[in-house]
Amino acid sequence: MPKYIIQGGKSLAGTIAVKGAKNAALKIIPASLLSTEPLTITNLPAIEDIDRSLELISALGVKVDRTADTCHLDTANITTIELDHGLANKLRASIMFVAPLLARFNEARFPHPGGCVIGAGTRPIDIFLEGFQALGAELIMEEHFYHLRAKHLIGTEYFFPIVSVTGTESLLMAAVLAKGKTVLKNAAMEPEIVALANHLNNVGAKITGAGSPVIVIEGVDKISGGEITIMPDRIEAGTFAILAAAAKTKIVITNCRPDHLESLLSIFRHIGVPFETTSDTLTIKPAKQILPYNIKTHEYPGFPTDLQSPYTVLMTQAKGSSIIHETIYDRRLLFTDMLTQMGANIIMCDPHRVVVNGPTQLRGRKLTSPDLRAGISMIIAGLIAEGITEIDNIYQIDRGYEQIASRLRSLGADIKQTD
Ligand code: EPU
Repeated sequence: MPKYIIQGGKSLAGTIAVKGAKNAALKIIPASLLSTEPLTITNLPAIEDIDRSLELISALGVKVDRTADTCHLDTANITTIELDHGLANKLRASIMFVAPLLARFNEARFPHPGGCVIGAGTRPIDIFLEGFQALGAELIMEEHFYHLRAKHLIGTEYFFPIVSVTGTESLLMAAVLAKGKTVLKNAAMEPEIVALANHLNNVGAKITGAGSPVIVIEGVDKISGGEITIMPDRIEAGTFAILAAAAKTKIVITNCRPDHLESLLSIFRHIGVPFETTSDTLTIKPAKQILPYNIKTHEYPGFPTDLQSPYTVLMTQAKGSSIIHETIYDRRLLFTDMLTQMGANIIMCDPHRVVVNGPTQLRGRKLTSPDLRAGISMIIAGLIAEGITEIDNIYQIDRGYEQIASRLRSLGADIKQTD
């Protein structure tokens, strides 16, 4: 099994460029199915989740032509409306293929999506199923598969009982080719949703309000092909910013959108991490001392759950106690056990809250990455620790961070991959 081996304590500095956003690309690839015309995607990150997504779309009959960070998708001839069971099981975002299939063919068959184990049981899809039914689809429960079909999707008004990112994106895509008007209320407001809506509008959709809690979609007859450049990954940018803060060093993060990281940067002001921004760069400067600050994860524009685990590592370096309150996923704090093994002083209050008492000197350990964001946090912890950290199950990290070892080496990190 491949591992990352990190010799901690090396001084880090320099410039690192952010790649295209995983959670934007994972929606744009399926959105190509809404049209019979080809789509060209640029700035596509080379990560495992994107490989899986392209394998899934290819199994539907789409011709995929990928070179470097560009990918052409020819969606003219779809051969099946059924998602491959084995592939869909590896990727939570396989659920994103359902809405475009249903919108274009009035039918989709799919297994329960797989992916990171970070939420209750297998992460639920009840909101998607309820929303598709509100748009007029019939749900048939088959052995191992959900089966949705409709004569034609009909515009509707739907209030999300829980704010859901992929739920919002799915109903948005389903409504684009529905007859009449759809109003989505209590919609998620993440920048990736705005990017998806802007792209769909560029290729013929009529969507207003994306980025606010109420999105209105006027159904259209046709979506065209076209081109799209994937936006920068705000979670990757935030992760590098936290690494720089924890290592108390200067790192310049380029190709990013600091305006998508306001919640993190407002906290940096409170905890004494100096930084400067331009429209597409973020420079973190060495902090003299890091102060503690409580966080509570929240839907955008609040503090992102995907930055909670790196921030928890940062708080092990703060002078004093901080409470980390994870409100979105009930298994995302379990990784703190690994930080405790590294010498952190962390008390788990309940599955949603830990108290971190700092500062503590972390020590290298042998660890296993339970999920993507916990995995990158162990890398950060390993880089600032004394001694050697070995991280197993690195597929979970490579799912979302392109060439992470070599990119960190360019900052001076001593990290290598062994097979
Ligand atoms: N939920 C339900 N029922 C549903 C859908 C969601 O109960 O049908 C619950 C979830 O269990 C969770 C809450 O609603 O407790 C919110 O989850 P949401 O649906 O917003 O999450 P998601 O859309 O599945 C996306 C990202 C996640 C990110 C969350 C929150 C993608 C592909 N995934 O997930 O990214 O953490 O939004 O911002 O966009 C990651 O990149 O590591 C990652 C997990």
